[in-house]
Amino acid sequence: MPLSAEQPVAVFDSGVGGLTVLHELLVSLPTEDYLYLGDTARFPYGVRTQEELQGFAIEIAEHLLEAGAKLIVVACNAASAAALGVLEQHLEAGGHDVDVIGVIAPATQLAVAGSRSGRVGLLATPATVASGAYERAVRAADPHVHLESVACSDLAPIIQAGFPFDGEVVDTVRGYCAPLRAAEVDTVILGCTHYPLVAPMLQRTLGRGVTLVSSGAGVARSVERALAARDLLNPRADEGSYRFRCTADVESFKLLGSRFLQMPLGQVVHVELAERMAA
Ligand code: DGL
Repeated sequence: MPLSAEQPVAVFDSGVGGLTVLHELLVSLPTEDYLYLGDTARFPYGVRTQEELQGFAIEIAEHLLEAGAKLIVVACNAASAAALGVLEQHLEAGGHDVDVIGVIAPATQLAVAGSRSGRVGLLATPATVASGAYERAVRAADPHVHLESVACSDLAPIIQAGFPFDGEVVDTVRGYCAPLRAAEVDTVILGCTHYPLVAPMLQRTLGRGVTLVSSGAGVARSVERALAARDLLNPRADEGSYRFRCTADVESFKLLGSRFLQMPLGQVVHVELAERMAA
């Protein structure tokens, strides 16, 4: 069946972090309907192997296509880094002609275009740094730009657990920023969808002169272009809807989620994914 403009845009992440990306989509493309899946049962993705992440991404994408998605946003850096290419191949081989948008290319393009010094920093989970995906994306955008990568092993779980934020979070953030200060970068990619929540701490530590780049705005632009190219932008004049699925407890997703989305969460439904049930 051909895709229709009335179908929802699907967005997934390891949990609530991708809601920072959904937030940008809701603001930039308000007439679309959205279906968000947070794989909270398997959070964090940042310590998973590339093979595990590829399996998760394929399983979730199939679930979202069954739910009627017209485009899939991989709103997780670890999953985008490990699985975007494999996922596209898998869907194509299965006869699914849908666009899949990851977070790495949009963030890299903004960072490389905006850097004056050609010295760009990356804060990301260990899985994302180990994949080398940002290195490759920066090199493809401009081989003369230097990327200084910092693997932040516990920052996403700390952000998720730590509210209200205390001095320990500030110290953790300061520690991860130290190599970037030493490298004198002028632009820093927030290579994890949780990190926009600590943007004020990062900005204070790195200084006003450093530009923080998160993927949300660039992803929204990529989604708009991809939908427009296929004439799939929802033509309605009023606001669309958004709803949620998660693989662990619904109540904690609602509680945490409204913090990340900065908007009230409506319907949240628990789902079991096949591979998880089999495990
Ligand atoms: N949302 C994930 C990402 O952007 C980070 C959290 C996790 O480790 O699952 O990489």
